[in-house]
Amino acid sequence: MGYSKKVFRAATAKLSGRKQDAERAAEERRRAIYRQLPRTEELVKGIGSSGIRAARAVVRGGNAAEELEKLRADNLRMQNELRALLQANGYTENVFEPDYSCKRCNDTGYYEQDNITLMCPCLKKALSECACEELNRYAPLYQCTFANFSLDYYPTEPNEHNIVPRSHMEKVCRYCREYADNFSLHSRNLLFFGATGLGKTHLSLAIANEVIQKGFGVIYVSAPSLIQQYEQRMRYGSYDEDLLDMVTDCDLLIIDDLGSEFTNQFTVPHIYNLINSRLLLARPIIISTNLTMKELERQYSYRMVSRLSGETEKLNFFGNDIRIGKKRLKKVQKNP
Ligand SMILES: Nc1ncnc2c1ncn2[C@@H]1O[C@H](COP(=O)(O)OP(=O)(O)O)[C@@H](O)[C@H]1O
Ligand SMILES: [Mg+2]
Ligand SMILES: [Zn+2]
Repeated sequence: MGYSKKVFRAATAKLSGRKQDAERAAEERRRAIYRQLPRTEELVKGIGSSGIRAARAVVRGGNAAEELEKLRADNLRMQNELRALLQANGYTENVFEPDYSCKRCNDTGYYEQDNITLMCPCLKKALSECACEELNRYAPLYQCTFANFSLDYYPTEPNEHNIVPRSHMEKVCRYCREYADNFSLHSRNLLFFGATGLGKTHLSLAIANEVIQKGFGVIYVSAPSLIQQYEQRMRYGSYDEDLLDMVTDCDLLIIDDLGSEFTNQFTVPHIYNLINSRLLLARPIIISTNLTMKELERQYSYRMVSRLSGETEKLNFFGNDIRIGKKRLKKVQKNP
């Protein structure tokens, strides 16, 4: 589960917020009940102090056994009285206890099982929610799903390669869906080729959505902003540390628009090293580009592109720019 430090901090903060809320509410309940039924306060305090009194009795020596027995009976009597008093006024026995959102971990995020500390499903869920929120800051994650990916935008006439875009894209979409459904740390790398506005970003985010739901850490970054981060690190020393840490370590890395960034002799090696280290670690990566293989080679190096090519599934996107198609459709709907 590769999550960035930022996501981890945000998820932990979410849980401790819930914990504090539950504890604060319990404290308020306690105060209200003490006001309503002052006897409950005496009883709670009496029960609370019986441990101390017992310890004192032991230290004092003398007839400790008899005194302890008396204390135990006292304690039991007070507990019974408290329970009865609460019940008579319509309260449950554990009304003073905080009502945590997660009963398994009491909103701490961890629980013990067979002397092993395990991460609670509620923390896993919070992590995946925070990862989505974080990703959404950079990309329209929630707008790009499989559910709203429509094949209607792709032409049904064969193109110059004698390929029918709609049937071809149907296969591409199905492939991506299966990829997302079966995602694991051993999933293949994908390379999306095609002109602007054909749904490359949309499908890669649709995959991201699903994979995050499964609890994997996903980083989406456009090649230009990745390069910008590397440059900032080199030049100014201030950069998004989390992002650069995570691009190598996350479970799924999505690099959008490779080749659209301004490259130079300093930035090319960063991208090369990044891609290379993901390939060496066999960690999945999805890359999309508007360039052809030849153009990528020119911008990067033959070495990088041939490595990439050997270890990725290549998917071509065909059709007409959907941004334009959507605008046209809106116009038609407005003035039929
Ligand atoms: N098949 C599709 N169904 C619905 N909307 C789509 C589809 N493909 C792309 N879009 C939308 O069209 C716009 C451009 O698509 P995008 O994925 O950014 O293209 P690309 O990354 O190939 O340039 C986005 O708003 C996207 O959500
Ligand atoms: Mg795009
Ligand atoms: Zn929990």
